[in-house]
Amino acid sequence: MSVSEEMRIGREGVASATSIAQACRAVLLTADPIEKAFAARAAQRAWQQGRLAFLFDVAMPDDPPRPADLALLPPNRMPKRGRAGSERSRIAMLHAFAHIEYVAIDLAFDCAGRFGEGMPRRFVDDWLSVGADEAMHFALLDRRLKKAGAHYGALPAHDGLWEAAGKTRHDRIARLAVVPMALEARGLDVTPATVARFEAAGDGHSARILTRIYHDEIRHVAIGTKWFESCCVNDRLVPAELWRSLISRHFSGVVKPPFNDSARAQAGLTLDYYGTLATLT
Ligand SMILES: [Fe+2]
Ligand SMILES: [Fe+2]
Repeated sequence: MSVSEEMRIGREGVASATSIAQACRAVLLTADPIEKAFAARAAQRAWQQGRLAFLFDVAMPDDPPRPADLALLPPNRMPKRGRAGSERSRIAMLHAFAHIEYVAIDLAFDCAGRFGEGMPRRFVDDWLSVGADEAMHFALLDRRLKKAGAHYGALPAHDGLWEAAGKTRHDRIARLAVVPMALEARGLDVTPATVARFEAAGDGHSARILTRIYHDEIRHVAIGTKWFESCCVNDRLVPAELWRSLISRHFSGVVKPPFNDSARAQAGLTLDYYGTLATLT
């Protein structure tokens, strides 16, 4: 990264941005996790206060940098995390969640900066508010890890989430189908059981953080579904049919029961999308 590029990262980078794309790019190019979280919230504030033009004059990076001390392993080489029974296993799980939130910051700002052109301004409003949520989620988990004597970067992580999103970098509607409506929706399916395991282990603090994240994530899935459906209306497509075909083409992860039908329904992701799927990979 050149010296001038370094000037355009972090909060400083956001402060010197004049367009929404420049601010999103500054967040994506910030590798340091704490600085990324600050930059994300600064970018949302700058946008809300009207300090950024609705202009897409720079590209989003395809492979944003990651923290220098974070070991990224292929998913199949990740050590087993266990099921929250021991403190060690809980720390491993919290670390994995912190990494998901770190990448989720990038996913939200990438969505706004890469796909915002030609969309209403509300599209950017929504994805920046999601990005600010993800920054808060990251900060809560990182603080929790530190309280337990660990920190983000102390354990390895895998980049499956960013890779899954990368396959849709040329297609706005496929990105919406895969990221909020498959990956984040999957989070809604599995989180209640995870919260229960943390509670059963006597870790109410982590359980409360995960519950807060869960409620925010319902809103993120709802935002994704709303914009997906609005793209479908513009192109006269049947949302549920299109979603299934995009998922079968662009998503190699899991869409399988048990589904959290009530949380999905709250997010507008109704059974006509996924009800006919026993397993779709
Ligand atoms: Fe999140
Ligand atoms: Fe999210």
